[in-house]
Amino acid sequence: MNEQSIIQGLQAIVGGSGVVQEPFDMQAHLVDWRKRHHGQALCVVFPASTQQVSDVVRFCAEHDLRIFPQGGNTSVCGGSVPTEDGRNVVINLARMSKIVSVNAADNSMTVEAGCILANIHDAAAAEDKLFPLSFGAEGSCQIGGCIATNAGGVNVIRYGNTRDLILGLEVVLPDGTIWNGLRTLRKNNSGYDLKHLFIGAEGTLGIVTGATLKLYPQPKAMVTAMLAVPDIHAAVDQGLTLQQAFPGSLIALEFISGSEYEIVLKHSPTVKRPLASLPQCVVLIELSAATGTSEMLVDALSECLEPSIEAGVIEDAVIASSEQQRQDLWLLRHSVTESNVHEGMGITHDIAVPIYRIPDFVDQAGAALAEHYPEARPVIVGHMGDGNLHYIAMFPHAMWAEVADKKAFQHALSCRLYDIAAALDGTFSAEHGIGSLHVDEMGLYKPQAELNLMQSIKALLDPANRFNPGRVLPGTNSSL
Ligand code: FAD
Ligand code: LAC
Ligand code: ZN
Repeated sequence: MNEQSIIQGLQAIVGGSGVVQEPFDMQAHLVDWRKRHHGQALCVVFPASTQQVSDVVRFCAEHDLRIFPQGGNTSVCGGSVPTEDGRNVVINLARMSKIVSVNAADNSMTVEAGCILANIHDAAAAEDKLFPLSFGAEGSCQIGGCIATNAGGVNVIRYGNTRDLILGLEVVLPDGTIWNGLRTLRKNNSGYDLKHLFIGAEGTLGIVTGATLKLYPQPKAMVTAMLAVPDIHAAVDQGLTLQQAFPGSLIALEFISGSEYEIVLKHSPTVKRPLASLPQCVVLIELSAATGTSEMLVDALSECLEPSIEAGVIEDAVIASSEQQRQDLWLLRHSVTESNVHEGMGITHDIAVPIYRIPDFVDQAGAALAEHYPEARPVIVGHMGDGNLHYIAMFPHAMWAEVADKKAFQHALSCRLYDIAAALDGTFSAEHGIGSLHVDEMGLYKPQAELNLMQSIKALLDPANRFNPGRVLPGTNSSL
């Protein structure tokens, strides 16, 4: 079938306006958020219902087309754009953005997969509920993308990853079958819990079309604070003290290096400067409670921090005294990725180690960079409470332009840091996933037995390797 007939066939399913094929109109869907990964496709298809997704998948199977599911295209590991070769079709869920129902009594909400995460927050808040998944891209990422990547974010320490917030899923399988698993049950041990296969599968096993989400009560009291501390050792010490003092109410425990803080202030002019002088390191904390007042939390936090303030370990501290100040602190935190793009070529490592080993990782990674890559500046931000750091080796744009084999350079550098994480019982991929960027590392750091099992599951569900070929699993980029 030629290209024009394919477009017409897809238009017959989703309508004329549901298929985009002009190169200019497709552009935004063929390059990732940081403009590092480029792909090509015959067209981008926007189905408006689960049935249309199923019909598009069946059509693609009949005509040997490869399928690349796409949400808000905010992936930071090249997972959201198609490959540069092959007969590719992008299926974007943006038209499936309905909040289907909110059940306050059941603390649950059912949504279509194309819902923007921030809209889910608003719909929950309208019922005095909270959907706690939160991170910088929440204004544009879709819940389907969050599910596909098992996204983490800033509240994992209290509410878990996306996986922990999903009660049920609806998925279109690679053969077009619609699996409706949209349940709100908290308990259901009737065999394998299949939703977990698709959470974190990064679109390699099918397309998530709907989800039932877990809601929580909106907190009634909240306090957000930023601390300046001299180094990573002091930061982790404070974190461990806070975890011990506030079990259940510590909802965010974030780390920002002085270098990252400086970069944000330099490139994001709307961000306010919260601390008097430039800190060595920053800890960002949020506590919340379902009862009591924010003043009570402020008092409890102040009391907990007092000994370290008196000892001079906490060099400066700011406690948000209004919702606006709280948002200002979070704006600084959420501006890191965009600011880093302006600063230089940041090679990002999304590692995790047990929290108490974070200082070892930072010390050893810093020494490795200083020895082998003296031009790189360590820039660190991350979810300290989860042991998860985004450890960035920041190179000046001009220096990066001179690197001849960028892929090999990046791989060699990253493996030095991943080896350090592995020796500290850590992982090379904590929350962003594998995408296309980390496929080679899968072959190096994932135990063979786990890779074999993953390959078997992939072969069972997607024997034609139609869904996201070349992503996640090594050796799957064969053209159909
Ligand atoms: P996309 O980027 O479009 O796709 C991501 C992957 O999911 C791809 O493999 C795609 O094929 C697949 N996919 C998308 N939709 C579906 C679907 N409906 N069915 C099946 N597969 C699908 N991530 C974190 O974990 N924590 C953070 O704190 C965080 N902060 C970020 C901050 C910024 C500023 C940015 C740009 C990104 C951040 N990310 C973070 C990464 C990213 O936003 C998340 O991974 C997000 O979950 C991706 O959602 P998306 O809708 O944009 O998906
Ligand atoms: C963050 C993203 C990059 O934590 O995961 O800001
Ligand atoms: Zn993160």
